[in-house]
Amino acid sequence: LQTTSDSIRSHDADHEKYADVNWDELEFGVVPTDYMYTMKCSKGDEFSQGHLTPYGNIELSPSAGVLNYGQGLFEGLKANRTEDGRFLLFRPEENALRMKMGAERMCMPSPSPQQFLDAVKQTVLANKCWVPPTGKGTLYLRPLLIGSGSVLGLGPAPEYTFLIFASPVGSYHKGRAALNLYVEDKFHRATPGGTGGVKSITNYSPVYLAQKQARAKGFSDVLFLDSLTGKNIEEITACNIFILKGNVISTPTIHGTVLPGITRKSIIDIARDFGYQVEERVIPVEELLEADEAFCTGTAVVVTPIGAVTYQDKRVEYKTGKGTLSQKLYETITGIQTGRLEDKKGWTMEI
Ligand code: COI
Repeated sequence: LQTTSDSIRSHDADHEKYADVNWDELEFGVVPTDYMYTMKCSKGDEFSQGHLTPYGNIELSPSAGVLNYGQGLFEGLKANRTEDGRFLLFRPEENALRMKMGAERMCMPSPSPQQFLDAVKQTVLANKCWVPPTGKGTLYLRPLLIGSGSVLGLGPAPEYTFLIFASPVGSYHKGRAALNLYVEDKFHRATPGGTGGVKSITNYSPVYLAQKQARAKGFSDVLFLDSLTGKNIEEITACNIFILKGNVISTPTIHGTVLPGITRKSIIDIARDFGYQVEERVIPVEELLEADEAFCTGTAVVVTPIGAVTYQDKRVEYKTGKGTLSQKLYETITGIQTGRLEDKKGWTMEI
């Protein structure tokens, strides 16, 4: 029999465990949490001591490098709550390395992988009660690396800020609805020699116009073609793409214009374990139109099915839902991420 004081205690414990959020209504958007992490460094120095502060606005000079010349990178990773109350990150060291690689391209100092991981862990632990119940969503972590110092002549900023904020999120596309994609043949996302292969903040807002025009025609998102020939598929606005034909799964190769997605890399491994042949190669858009199935991958989208694609005047539809490869891949990767399936590859990191 539960006594009054027991029931008060268990109520308090629950209050501590979860923030006041309607977990069933979570979307992919900003829900302010309690703390963020900040670490600063001058040009030519190394990052040293970071700290947690209450989540809130940051002060930046109007002449900050990031505001004027877009010197900035971001990352995205998720913390999951397991059924038995543990917190798991998924391959966070891969995000740390990708940020380091991007920082070299953008002439910025970067936190060491160890500093990156420590900062991520501290941010999750400080915002534990914002990690959704298992199956209701995840805590999305957004590391930023920005040129925060003041600069006017074109060149790297004199000071850098590494920052992580967190937000509980639900699925990126509401209800994981299958995408109705428009294949964009006028605008491009990346060019050879550019920054398409790193997570520069400058890669993202240039897709808005294509996305806006496609959405006005009823499409859910845009798939970009390579800018040299305009014949091969490359990347969707916020994720990588895969196609299935027979027993062969193909995805555009990483050669500087496609982001090396961590979910992409993991899905390639899982699909090979399932017995599929996986090819990273140049994929002409005609092959997409003839595929048996198509889907996209990314931290935010996880694995989302593509229901239809329109290229010029041709529209094709694909199988979605039960029994599809994308469904099986989704169940497997989210199973590993949430601790429901055994993590045989050592991809998860418990905090
Ligand atoms: C992610 O999947 O985490 C990304 O960084 C994509 C972003 C545009 C939401």
